Amino acid sequence: MADRKNPLRDGARLKRTPQASTVVIFGATGDLTKRKLVPSLYSLHVEGLLPQDFKIIAFARRDKNDEIFRNDMREALQQHAGDIGNSTRMNQFLSLIHYHRGDFNQTEPYVELARSLEKLKSERGITGNRLFYLATPPSTYDAIIENLGAAKLNKSTSGWTRIIIEKPFGRDLRTAIELNNVVERVFAEDQIYRIDHYLGKETVQNILVFRFANGIFEPIWNRRYIDHVQITVAETLGVEGRGNFYEETGITRDIVQNHALQLFCLFAMEPPAAIDSSAVRNEKVKVLQAVKQFRERDVDDMVVRGQYAAGSLMGRRLPSYKEEEGVAPDSATETYFAAKFFIDNWRWADVPIYIRTGKRLPKRVTEIAIYFKNAPLQMFSEKARSQVGSNVLALRIQPDEGISLRFDSKVPGPSSFIRPVTMDFRYGTSFGQTPPDAYERLLLDALLGDSTLFTRSDENQMAWRLLDPLFKRWEQLGKIELPQYQIGTWGPAQADGLLRNDQREWRRL
Ligand code: BG6
Repeated sequence: MADRKNPLRDGARLKRTPQASTVVIFGATGDLTKRKLVPSLYSLHVEGLLPQDFKIIAFARRDKNDEIFRNDMREALQQHAGDIGNSTRMNQFLSLIHYHRGDFNQTEPYVELARSLEKLKSERGITGNRLFYLATPPSTYDAIIENLGAAKLNKSTSGWTRIIIEKPFGRDLRTAIELNNVVERVFAEDQIYRIDHYLGKETVQNILVFRFANGIFEPIWNRRYIDHVQITVAETLGVEGRGNFYEETGITRDIVQNHALQLFCLFAMEPPAAIDSSAVRNEKVKVLQAVKQFRERDVDDMVVRGQYAAGSLMGRRLPSYKEEEGVAPDSATETYFAAKFFIDNWRWADVPIYIRTGKRLPKRVTEIAIYFKNAPLQMFSEKARSQVGSNVLALRIQPDEGISLRFDSKVPGPSSFIRPVTMDFRYGTSFGQTPPDAYERLLLDALLGDSTLFTRSDENQMAWRLLDPLFKRWEQLGKIELPQYQIGTWGPAQADGLLRNDQREWRRL
């Protein structure tokens, strides 16, 4: 059994184990499969959360067979699954995996896949329930989806069929609509699970619980009490061998369009009528609809791009972005993004919401910091209040999962100095358990047919609509030299300027 307590085992969820099913992973030899998908499925297996009759079909181009692929996955589990299970469990799990070699662009491998699925059904009594997972580069999505349709794999005669599609879903509004049309020609919306793994994180789900299960925060969660908000998604990682991919996406498409805007929506949305897939997603869409659109001038004034230059991080000398493999020596791709957003509605009008995200920053940290308006402090002497800070509520998404509140306090002693102190909640200390990996939760939800934590097409498209003016302006500007920031620093000087112009500064993390 697992050495850790996994909250997915607890509570009502356990009463619903997924039905017998087969997961087909496209792009099975890729990084995502190794680092996240197979370890997460293994963890679900160890926890007893997978159905009795379960199979994984690994679909990829490379020349491998069951044995070779299982060995690859054994190594992947040893590296990425943490300290769970034992060798018997692992062997049991690995025996559920079958390798299916095929070119995504040809129809024959899909016809063979259909045959294999039928065979499993008749030989092993596995029902027709199947979950397709597209863990491939976005350029392959159209072909895979169309071929699944052509092989009539989009519906099962005896069970459900679902498809998980990895982000980025499109690269702007137009391509997102086009891709959606392709998917919806083959699958119905309730079969489609657009994944943004941030939604599978416990701390991200807790944003709604924190806001709506407590009586004390919602009354002050608005423009009367909140001065501004800072959303940070900082990484120490670089592009990790994905230079080609990054040249196509940049951090705006990789992180802002999805992860950062999801945090933004959960922070800003109105209370949904229920925590279910349609009510929650309706409210998120309303937030995005109310965000003030950027005009051309706003893009220049309110958005900062940057790119990392060579430098040191944690004692290691690291190359610049332009020196990464697969990156053009004159690349104008952004690895840092900071911007100021406004939501034009009754709750948020005039409250700036700043988002910053970057690769190769000094620390890995994701958080939402809510700065409250200052109290009138005239009653305290100038000396006493010299160190007073704003009240800041920080929702720490990772890695130090928790919530903290900063407030001012009297320094003990005869003087009347005031100094900020912090009240802290930590998941680890309060619950004594490690949150499961986001992919574990999301795979389980997809197997159970719950799409609340997945993105709906209108939500995805509203996020692209919001960013389209940025892409348009940057295209007009062409291949310019972006502001550089040294690896291990908090982004280009222009990002500090963005807040300094508003008499504010970025939170020191
Ligand atoms: C992925 C991005 O979606 O999220 C990566 O493509 C990024 O560039 C990763 O590193 C961050 O995820 P996490 O869960 O480590 O914050």
